[in-house]
Amino acid sequence: MAKRALITGVTGQDGAYLADLLLKKGYTVYGTFRRLSTPNFWRLQYLGIFDKVRLMPADMNDMSSLTEAIHVANPDEVYNLAAQSFVAASFEQPISTGTISGLGVAMMLEAIRHTDPKIKFYQASTSEMYGKIGLHSIKEKKGRVLLNEKSNFSPTSPYAAAKVYAYWTTKIYREAYDMFACQGILFNHESPIRGLEFVTRKISNAVAKIHLGIEKELRLGNTKAVRDWGYAPEYVEAMWRMMQYKEPEDFVVATDRFHSVAQFAEAAFDSMDMDWKKYTKTDKKFFRPIDTDALRGDYSKAKKLLKWKPNVQFEKLVEIMVREDVKRWQNVLDGKVFPWDAPNYPTEASIITRSMKQ
Ligand code: NAP
Ligand code: GDD
Repeated sequence: MAKRALITGVTGQDGAYLADLLLKKGYTVYGTFRRLSTPNFWRLQYLGIFDKVRLMPADMNDMSSLTEAIHVANPDEVYNLAAQSFVAASFEQPISTGTISGLGVAMMLEAIRHTDPKIKFYQASTSEMYGKIGLHSIKEKKGRVLLNEKSNFSPTSPYAAAKVYAYWTTKIYREAYDMFACQGILFNHESPIRGLEFVTRKISNAVAKIHLGIEKELRLGNTKAVRDWGYAPEYVEAMWRMMQYKEPEDFVVATDRFHSVAQFAEAAFDSMDMDWKKYTKTDKKFFRPIDTDALRGDYSKAKKLLKWKPNVQFEKLVEIMVREDVKRWQNVLDGKVFPWDAPNYPTEASIITRSMKQ
C-alpha cells in the first residue's frame, strides 16, 4: 500500500518541493494550508502538482485543526515545515512567530502522541539557531568547520529562539515517549520558488528586472553577512532520507561553502554582464536589530549515514535563479500568464516598521 505523508506548510518553498518528491516516490501526499483572503497555491501550480496534493486547511496556531489534519490524513510520516520563516519579520511579530514556529511544534507533537505515537515526525530546524558566531569562526582551521550537530546554539532573533524551543521539544518527545521524531538542521537553501523577501530571490528578481529595463536599482541591507547557500530540491531529499533512517536523529544539511550577500549580488549581476556596484545601494531599512553574521555547515554526518551530499553549488544556484526570473519577466513582457509570485509582491520600499534601523 502507498505510504501516506502529511506536510504542513505545503504552500511554501520546501513544502512544494517535498510534495513533488514524495509524489514521485509513490506516496499519497496530504498538505496543510492556512486560510487566506487570497489563496496561495502558486508553487504547487508552478511544479504541476496542484491537483495531486490532498489539501487540508490547518493553522499552527490552532491545535484542533492540527489534530483534525492528523485524523484525516492518517499519515505514516509528518513533515512539519510550516513556520513564520522570515527572520526580519520575527522582530516585528515576535509573539506570533513564537506561537507558530515554536509552540505550534509542541501542538503538533501532542496531536501525534494522542492519535498514534508511531507516526514518524520531521521537524524543520535551522542553522539560524547557531546565531552570531563571528566570521572568523567559520574560516578554515586546518580544514575543520565549526557548525555541526554538536555545536552550541545562541539564537539572535525571535525566530531562532522559537526554533530552539521547537528543537528541544522535538528531542524531548523522542526521548520521553520513544517517538520517531527527527530533525534537519538545514542551512539556507534557495530556488526559483524561494519567497521574494529572502535576499537571494530578492537579488535574482531585481537582476532580471534591471536587465530587462523594468527596474533601475536594488536596495540591500547587510551585504557583509555570510551564508552557506544550497539548492532547495536537494535539501528536501535529505529530509526524506532522515525519515527512512533506522533511528530518529538530527542532521546538519549544508554545502560546507560560504559566500557573502555581496558575493551573491556580484555573481547574479555578473551572470547578466552587469556590474553589481552600479545598480546596488545600501539601505539601512534592511538591516536587522541583530543579525547572524556568518554560517557554514559541516554535513559530514548526513554524508556518512544518509549518503546525502549537495551537488548544486553556489555558482550554479545563482545561475538557476537568475535565469528563471529573467524568463518569467520576459514572459510577462511577451504577454504570457503563468503561476508566479512577483506580480503580487508590494515594492519593499513601501513597507515600514519600527524594528528596521532608520
Ligand atoms: P516558507 O516558504 O516561508 O514556507 C512556510 C510555510 O509555512 C508556508 O506554507 C506558510 O503558508 C506556512 N505557514 C506560515 N504560518 C502558518 C500558520 N500560522 N499556520 C500554518 N501554516 C503556516 O519557508 P521554507 O523556506 O519553505 O521553509 C520551510 C521550513 O524550513 C520552515 O519551518 C523554515 O523555518 C525552515 N527552514 C528553512 C530554511 C531555508 O533556508 N529555506 C532553512 C532552515 C529551516 P503561506 O504560504 O500561507 O504563507
Ligand atoms: N532578506 C534580506 N533582504 N536580507 C538581507 C538584505 C535584504 O535586503 N540585505 C542583506 N541581507 C542579509 C540579512 O541581514 C541576512 O544576514 C542575510 O542577508 C540572509 O537573509 P535572508 O535571505 O532573509 O535569510 P536568513 O538567513 O535570515 O534566514 C533564512 O535562512 C534560515 C537558515 O539559516 C530563512 O530561510 C530562515 O527561515 C532559515 O531558518
